[in-house]
Amino acid sequence: MLRGKIVLITGAASGIGAETAKLLAAAGAIPILTGRRLDKLREVADAIGGTNGCYKMDVTDNDEVERAVQLIAKDFGRIDILLNNAGYGVFELFADAPIERFQEMMDTNYMGIIRCTKAVLPIMQKQGGGHIINVASMAGKLSTSKSSGYAATKHAVLGLTNAMRSEFASMNIYVSAINPGPIDTPFLHIADPQGHYASKVQGFMLKPARVAEVIVQVMKRRKPEVDLPRSASIGIRIYGLFPRLADRLAGRWLNRK
Ligand code: NAI
Repeated sequence: MLRGKIVLITGAASGIGAETAKLLAAAGAIPILTGRRLDKLREVADAIGGTNGCYKMDVTDNDEVERAVQLIAKDFGRIDILLNNAGYGVFELFADAPIERFQEMMDTNYMGIIRCTKAVLPIMQKQGGGHIINVASMAGKLSTSKSSGYAATKHAVLGLTNAMRSEFASMNIYVSAINPGPIDTPFLHIADPQGHYASKVQGFMLKPARVAEVIVQVMKRRKPEVDLPRSASIGIRIYGLFPRLADRLAGRWLNRK
């Protein structure tokens, strides 16, 4: 089903972007790896083999995104799937975080998706359809302490995703969101350099290969939204229904960063 599909991945040099590229190549798809450093993208591409492409594309740079997307469409003829994956977080208290940190995270995690989708949308419209998958987070549904900046970007991503889904349906363009809990990737080295958070969530940290499998399933089945792991997804639903009770029972556990 994915054989021959052209899949543009943002932030593909590491973590779940790189893992997804690997699975796609094994399934006969053509992953197009994009990111800020071509040398790192080429390392990943060489390791996965098969047909692929590597393009420098910083999602915070309007012109670079537009140029790279045009070049990819010219080189490969179409873009079937856009995986908006690039993103990062810094876990710190609201009072300690400089204002620029909020802006910079928003510029990558949220505006990055807007830039890439704006560039890809006319190509998908012209070819008669496509699929856009936004990597949000559990933090897009539930904000905990030290994540005010990051959680806000992912809440924004989910709001954006829902509106895109209803607007793009008539163009035969599917829109999905993936909301993972903590994953063992370089993300955590930036979010929490001391490793406090990682050590506390070690027991239920997801493996990047597992998250990549779920992303590939979403590509095949075009599911609108997936939360993972399943236990966290159930917890989030309960939290939404009974926030005060959930805060009393689980507040300390949820806020242990
Ligand atoms: P990662 O750090 O390995 O991957 C993120 C990639 O995005 C990196 O290769 C990074 O260089 C790239 N990137 C950052 N800024 C960029 C920019 N301006 N332009 C282009 N590329 C840029 O970490 P991971 O975990 O694979 O992250 C992927 C996505 O998953 C992110 O959106 C993250 O917010 C999300 N996520 C991560 C979780 C975790 O615990 N690791 C949990 C839930 C969601």
